[in-house]
Amino acid sequence: MIASVLLAGGSWVTGFLFCCLLSLLLVLLMQRGKFLYALRKVPYPSALPIIGNAYQLNCTQEEFFQKLVKWAGEFGDIFLVWVGLRPFIFLYRVESVQPLLHSSEHIDKSLEYQYLKPWLGTGLVTSTGQKWHFRRKLLTPTFHSNLIEVYLKNVKEETDVLISCLGKEVGCWFDVVPYVKRAALDIICDTAMGYKLNAQKKLNNKYVEAVDKIASIVQMRFTNVWIASDSIFKLTKAGKVHNHSLDIIHEFVGKVISERKLKRDGNFNEPMKKKKALLDLLLDISQDGTILSDDDIREEVNTFMYAGHDTLATSISWTLYALGRNPQYQEKILDECDELLGSAEVTVDNIHKLTWLEACIKEQMRLFPVAPLIARQIYKPIEIMGSEIPRGSTVLINSYLLHRDPRHFPEPQVYRPERFLPDKPRLPLYAFIPFSAGSRNCIGWKFALMVVKVAVLLILKTYRVEALDKEDQLRFISELVLVNANGIRLKLTPRKR
Ligand code: HEM
Repeated sequence: MIASVLLAGGSWVTGFLFCCLLSLLLVLLMQRGKFLYALRKVPYPSALPIIGNAYQLNCTQEEFFQKLVKWAGEFGDIFLVWVGLRPFIFLYRVESVQPLLHSSEHIDKSLEYQYLKPWLGTGLVTSTGQKWHFRRKLLTPTFHSNLIEVYLKNVKEETDVLISCLGKEVGCWFDVVPYVKRAALDIICDTAMGYKLNAQKKLNNKYVEAVDKIASIVQMRFTNVWIASDSIFKLTKAGKVHNHSLDIIHEFVGKVISERKLKRDGNFNEPMKKKKALLDLLLDISQDGTILSDDDIREEVNTFMYAGHDTLATSISWTLYALGRNPQYQEKILDECDELLGSAEVTVDNIHKLTWLEACIKEQMRLFPVAPLIARQIYKPIEIMGSEIPRGSTVLINSYLLHRDPRHFPEPQVYRPERFLPDKPRLPLYAFIPFSAGSRNCIGWKFALMVVKVAVLLILKTYRVEALDKEDQLRFISELVLVNANGIRLKLTPRKR
């Protein structure tokens, strides 16, 4: 009797569960149908069920970059790639980039940015919503023009060290990137933490090695779906190196912060010396941990180290490459500098006058944008080029292609700095976005431009630069920054002027 009641009850429960499951499945199917319908007008390369285009992406990073260029040529104004069930939508026309960058709502980074969180926490690059708004407002004064003037002295000092390190390569072909990377780390470390790292002189610094390793492992995770899951990643060799590097970084930055605090407490009655690092400003506003805790400060210091060093190094290296291929512009920059600055020291004010220097750097940023892919996660539908891009999509702005649109840049493959001279008509908004644009643009752009200008100018004054690889021999790879697979190979000759 009891058994039959239980059984009867059991079949009722089973039936109920079955109905629930079926309804859930129907809801999911309807949602998926709606999702696919919204994207019906966006073309994509032929895809397989479930895995989508993942099989076409099982290639080298160099081939991946070439495919993005090829697909843009085939599909016209917009296309997407299915990675499993996730659509990655590529934008590279002003018309499609505009709604995204203009919006103050679509500010969330793509899901892949979570790989940066063990290192950067939820600092300015990785945070969103209220936290991001609060931090952005708090940190904006860090790059005030007065402070950039203060940082300039340090930039010149580190560039002088770079120039002397480059001395040993004079007369032969060599890859300039590792040299410039160490210089950029020295510059950023001093600016962000007020700490002399000396990465250029002491080559086996554990912190520098850890930053280098963690940056390339995170980069690898961005494109390798097999190590997406944390539990699998932890077991891999890369996972172990990642965690070891993380310990070194956290210990080092933690030590710098506490030493700085002690020093400030010791100088209680004395006003801080004129030079202020980002760390000092963060400690000033932290109000003894009530506004910003030590962990908050550490995540922002790490964020600036991450966001600043590779980008600067890449931009300086590509500028030297472009000028090495087009030496006539080296002369234009130096002639203008002689004429306008003479033997005066470079300052933030007078470097503005060097229009050829700025135009040559901007033209490099057009052709070789440091951040070629800017990714956002869509949490609220947004209309782009006649399609309602649904929640759950990932969109990527390809600034490499955007900057080569012949409507705005005639003969786009040609390095022609004249396009950026002050007498030229203004470009349409969002046609040229080396530092991104809108509310989530690069917070350090003014500082970055100043560093690139100073470094390039001082190097050119010392050396005549030649670049080995012709433009059609470049093998682009979109890491977190745009690199050439063979590095940037230059030859330097001491300049006699
Ligand atoms: C030439 C050098 C640089 C270039 C080309 C560059 C480019 C960019 C780009 C394109 C973004 C937007 C990324 C995105 O939305 O996914 C960005 C964001 C950012 N950059 Fe830079 N950057 C450079 C140097 C620097 C430096 C030197 C610093 C700091 C010292 C810095 C700090 C940041 C930060 C904190 C963000 C995140 C801003 C936010 O989300 O509110 N950058 N940068």
